[in-house]
Amino acid sequence: MSRNLHLPGYSNNSVNPSFSDVRRQFLKAGASASLAAILPACAARGTTPALSFTPIAPSNDDLLRVPPEYEASVLYRWGDPVGSAAGMPEFRMDASNSAADQALQAGMHHDGMHFFPLAASSHGVLAMNHEYLDEGLLFADGMRTWSAEKVLKAQNSVGVSIIEVRLEGGKWSVVRPSTYARRVTARTPCRISGPAAGHALMRTAADPDGRLVLGTYNGCAHGWTPWGTYLTCEENWHNQFVNAGAMTEDQRRYRLTARGRGYRWEEHDERFDAARHPNEFHRFGWVVEIDPFDPQSAPVKRTAMGRVKHEGAACSVGVDRRCAFYMGDDEAFEYIYKFVTARPWDPVDRAKNRDLLDDGTLYVARFNADGSGDWLPLTGRDQGEVVVKTRQAADAAGATKMDRAEWVIPHPVTREVYAALTNSSERKSVDPGNPRAPNPYGHIVRWREEGGDVTATRFRWDIFVLAGPAGSNTIQGDAFACPDGLWIDAMGTLWVQTDVSPTALGRGAFALLGNNQMLAVDPATRVFRRFLTGPNGCEITGFHTTPDNRSAFVNIQHPGEKPGDRSDPDSPRGVSNWPDYAASGRPRSATVVIRRRDGGIIGT
Ligand code: FEO
Ligand code: CA
Ligand code: CA
Repeated sequence: MSRNLHLPGYSNNSVNPSFSDVRRQFLKAGASASLAAILPACAARGTTPALSFTPIAPSNDDLLRVPPEYEASVLYRWGDPVGSAAGMPEFRMDASNSAADQALQAGMHHDGMHFFPLAASSHGVLAMNHEYLDEGLLFADGMRTWSAEKVLKAQNSVGVSIIEVRLEGGKWSVVRPSTYARRVTARTPCRISGPAAGHALMRTAADPDGRLVLGTYNGCAHGWTPWGTYLTCEENWHNQFVNAGAMTEDQRRYRLTARGRGYRWEEHDERFDAARHPNEFHRFGWVVEIDPFDPQSAPVKRTAMGRVKHEGAACSVGVDRRCAFYMGDDEAFEYIYKFVTARPWDPVDRAKNRDLLDDGTLYVARFNADGSGDWLPLTGRDQGEVVVKTRQAADAAGATKMDRAEWVIPHPVTREVYAALTNSSERKSVDPGNPRAPNPYGHIVRWREEGGDVTATRFRWDIFVLAGPAGSNTIQGDAFACPDGLWIDAMGTLWVQTDVSPTALGRGAFALLGNNQMLAVDPATRVFRRFLTGPNGCEITGFHTTPDNRSAFVNIQHPGEKPGDRSDPDSPRGVSNWPDYAASGRPRSATVVIRRRDGGIIGT
């Protein structure tokens, strides 16, 4: 997300080292060759991508562009019916759909997603996050009036979509109606499991057992399991809460403010008033597991994986089938985490994996200046309290304060891990893009676990690339800034998506980089090629390819977002009118499908 929801400043006042200091020492010592030296030469399938598409130029146009040998088609826009048999209300261009309509339609602000095949690469279930919302587009009069109906529509505009999709005659479409079609919203009952389930810190007046919470929202990036479930990861969930009274230590650490970010949910759903319901604040910030094949199943908040501002939970399967999940906490000076399951996953009996995410070890990363790293376990006598107060446990463990970890993605074959550190805004006076900031344009770090073992507690790391405009980067090939979304496909191509915030897009040092974009890079050559440029005001986030690597799903989030705050309801088309370009419409986040015109492999 980019709508200035990352407030300047930070809440981590620990004395732990910051990654910018560690990186400076690391580069000074010339340690950057260390990881390259220990990586074995790989020629296995999935490690030698043949990138041969025609790279495209930066763009400042209100268009989505891909290379000439490709075509992109819009699949699923905010407001499109999800395909539930309960109703398929059409989107109304004037934003007059009701809260009940919105519960049966695509949410706003598409983010990470995952394709779960039903029939190889031509038919499947697509699960995706609707990260946050823009009331200036959601309501015809924005927030000038406010009501319970508006709060409900706002709550129904976030969460998750699960849609059935099919490829026929070279074209993908949403299957409607579908028995898989489902919306999960900020009101959907979710089960709480793992060490915090039932804990005193999780009990509320509405749920004295501390085991059932309404809703999940602000899911960012995405996660998945090898047993075919989707993980939605709650990121800036604190923004919906307010507390006009005295703050608890935990509320300060998770950056609750008196007025939140102006969502005004507490006016008609009082659990978001943390002064009245302090424990409700503990019931968000989790990784939530959803079975995309069972629309009746309740989403489950897996508390063993920690409570932070989660940016994804990307799975790497070990040789013994234990699973590691890599997770960023996307705020200045926060940490990178890994959760390792206690047991291997069972590829034969899916039911045996049902509660695998409740039992394991949560680690936080320490990066050392000599290129080594350690995974520090977060455990205590009261593990429920440890996971509720994950940030505080990581402070005490001595983790390294990162500069805004966005997506963290493991390579499916080599098991190297790539992490996008999008940029630093660590000091109030130094904004992203300001060359005085320690990390003004973002970079990508990578590491390799000791012995290639995903359960290892030691690793080696280096800097994969420093992003930014010419003269400020270490990029070979096409330039970009503020990496955010990452994906490694079946061919071994690393895909990088950018999120330069609308306050910086097109300005100053960012001017020559154009709108947000997506690039492809072979990790071995590190040569970047620009594959896609987005419409005005959007960020590119969310990417997944079918198993045959011949279709790619890309999410275009918040086209038309303007610098600062919410859209102006009197001028909804002021920045963008993508993708419909309707005379009386409004910009809509959307899933796009990209195919080579000849049906060939994505990236060639
Ligand atoms: Fe939702 Fe950190 O991006
Ligand atoms: Ca971002
Ligand atoms: Ca992101």
